[in-house]
Amino acid sequence: MKINENYRSLETSYLFSQVAAKKAAYQAAHPDQRILSLGIGDVTRPLPTPVVQAFTEAVLDQGDPSRFHGYGPEQGYDFLKESIQQYYRRFGVELPIDDLFISDGAKCDLGNILDLFDTDNTVLIPDPVYPVYRDTNQMAGRRIAYLPAGPENGFLPMPDPDQKADIIYLCSPNNPTGAVYTKAQLAEWVDYANKQGAVILFDAAYEAFVTSPELPHSIYEIEGARECAIEVCSLSKTAGFTGTRCGYTVVPQELIRGGLSLRAMWLRRQTTKFNGVSYPVQRAAAAAFSDEGMAACQEVLSIYRSNARLMHEALEQAGIWHTGGIHSPYLWMKCPHGLSSWEFFDQLLEKAQVIGTPGCGFGTNGEGFFRLTAFGTPEDTAEAMERIRKFL
Ligand code: MLT
Repeated sequence: MKINENYRSLETSYLFSQVAAKKAAYQAAHPDQRILSLGIGDVTRPLPTPVVQAFTEAVLDQGDPSRFHGYGPEQGYDFLKESIQQYYRRFGVELPIDDLFISDGAKCDLGNILDLFDTDNTVLIPDPVYPVYRDTNQMAGRRIAYLPAGPENGFLPMPDPDQKADIIYLCSPNNPTGAVYTKAQLAEWVDYANKQGAVILFDAAYEAFVTSPELPHSIYEIEGARECAIEVCSLSKTAGFTGTRCGYTVVPQELIRGGLSLRAMWLRRQTTKFNGVSYPVQRAAAAAFSDEGMAACQEVLSIYRSNARLMHEALEQAGIWHTGGIHSPYLWMKCPHGLSSWEFFDQLLEKAQVIGTPGCGFGTNGEGFFRLTAFGTPEDTAEAMERIRKFL
């Protein structure tokens, strides 16, 4: 047999596994030290009460013969899809119910959606960006062209009409930099993709952090996006589902490539390879989109927003160049004293017992930068920033 040789081109371990391993090794060597983690973007607040209530009730349904649910539709229950439809109406987007596919999270869908595309395609990936886009395409052996992002373009690269691309990844609000595309900028991307016949994979996982009505939550706020874009989103950061697992992908019926409907292909793929998200999780997710659930989620989000504000102020006072933290749970800072990303990681761990994520893990252009997350508890965040301030 032959293995998939493309795996040889990957880093030995995934970025966040590498960070977790370093943290575990340091903790084992220093059992008395309390490490504070501003590394992986994992939430710390529990599920909001209306979500827990719906979740619990649905678990009880599963133990009652008259309310029990076996296999559900692979693409998700209508009750959840309808509540997502309602949510999108808040920012003026009307989604046909059949365009929505419920899954166990954005990361899985971002990897799995690649089943629809030939390996002989050029993939355009901003650098730096969420490493899943790069790694999943490397695994499949696709050609990758990187779009350089940096302080000069506000970490928001724009299309080059002479650049050929078939699959384009955009993430806004951006992981890791926290930068957010305006509607006008996204309109340029949509126009470019439609001219190229390319498909945009739009990662909206952090849309709940957008607070300005001027900034887009969804690529479907842009005219022409239904002809060229797939949107992937998740309840992980919006409603605290990192350990509960639920997300969704929108594949518009207008999206036709090679004479085939991508929506029909995705339905075929999901019905073949996926048996759907569990009934209790979908009930919990639907509760997050209810009026009561949305209000409870906003309360939690405001805790993370106030962490981000505190972090921004601490970096500002220390005179450290940074972006993000406004419509985003991430702050993206320049490493001090010309340190590389991993040098700063090691020093911060060694001297302040604070974990962050090295910017170079998000791409070559992330070298010399460092990502901090605002998903910690307010107490730990304040203490971590105090330790960072002293260290700097
Ligand atoms: C991150 O830290 O970038 C994310 O939490 C990872 C993820 O969502 O998979």
